[in-house]
Amino acid sequence: MNTPSATALAHPNIAFIKYWGNRDNTLRLPVNGSISMNLDGLFTRTTVTFNSSKQDSLMINEHPVIGKGLERVSYILDLVRQMANINERAEVSSSNNFPAGAGIASSAAAFAALALASSRAAGLTLSEGQLSRLARRGSGSASRSIPGGFVEWQMGTSDDDSVAVSIASPEHWALADCVAIVNASHKKTGSTEGHAIAGTSPLQNARVADTPRRLDICRTAILNKDFDTFANIIEHDSDIMHSVMMTSNPPLMYWQAATVGIFHAVREWRASGLPVGYTVDAGANVHVICLAEYAKETEKRLRELSGVSDVLVAGVGGAAQG
Ligand code: PMV
Repeated sequence: MNTPSATALAHPNIAFIKYWGNRDNTLRLPVNGSISMNLDGLFTRTTVTFNSSKQDSLMINEHPVIGKGLERVSYILDLVRQMANINERAEVSSSNNFPAGAGIASSAAAFAALALASSRAAGLTLSEGQLSRLARRGSGSASRSIPGGFVEWQMGTSDDDSVAVSIASPEHWALADCVAIVNASHKKTGSTEGHAIAGTSPLQNARVADTPRRLDICRTAILNKDFDTFANIIEHDSDIMHSVMMTSNPPLMYWQAATVGIFHAVREWRASGLPVGYTVDAGANVHVICLAEYAKETEKRLRELSGVSDVLVAGVGGAAQG
C-alpha cells in the first residue's frame, strides 16, 4: 500500500425525485431513479487509516460507535479490502459540521466520504462511477453525494450500472435549501427499514411506474431553470412518497402538524410570487427550496411560523473531494 491513510469530504444531498424502496436490499439497487442537489457548506469529513489492529473502529464527532453503525462501516471496508486485496483493519474517524437531528440525512455524506477516504487509503484510484457504486452499498442516497451539483442516480439494470451522475454543475442554477426544523417528539423509523416495507403499500407500484415521467419533468425543469415547474414537481413527488409511507405496513407517518402548516404557507407564498417549493425526506423537517436570492426572505418567513425551531440554509454543493 502506498498511503495507509486518507481523508475525504462529502456533502449531504436533498432529493427532488425521491428514492424509496429497493429491488435488492443488500446491493441497495433502487426500484426507481432519483434526482438531487448537493448541499454546500454542510459536510462530513472522514479519515481512514489502515493499521495492524485486530478490529475496525469508528469515531463519529469524537464519540466511539459500535454495533450496527460500525457493522455498516465494516461492510464498506470489506468491499474495499477485497478490491485492494489487503487484510488490514481500519480506524475510521468522521465528523459533521451540521448538527445531529437537524433534518439533514447524514448517511449520504458519511458513506460518500467513507467510500472515497477508504479506497484512497487502500491505495485504490476509483473512477467517479466506481465510487458512486461503492457509496451506494452503504446508503443508497450516498451514491448521489459523489458527483457534484445536480445529480441523477440511474436505477440501472445491475450493481454495475446503478450509479449517480452529475446532470448540471453547482454553478448552473443558484438555488438554496432552507431547512425548517420541526421538533419531532417520537423516534423515527430509519430509511433502511422504510425501504424494506415500501412494497407493502398498494400505492408503491403506481409511484414506481410513474417515476420516469416525474424524472423527465424535474430534469428538464432543472436544465431550463424553470422554477415554477420545478417547485410543482418536487412537491408532487414528495407527497407521493409520503403517501406510500403512510399506507405501508406498518404505516410510517413522518409529518407533524407544523410540517403540514409549512406546506400551506409555502404554497401561499408561491401563489403570491415568492419562488419557493417544499420537499420532505424521512422525517418531519421541511426542505424549502428557493431561488438563492430569496433565501433571506424565505428564512425570515419560515422562522415566523409556529412549530419551526430553527432554519438552516445551504446552497448547491460540489462533488466529494479527497
Ligand atoms: O439512502 P437512504 O437509505 O438514507 O434513503 C434515502 C431516502 C430518502 O431520503 C427519503 C429519499 C432520497 O432519495 O434521499
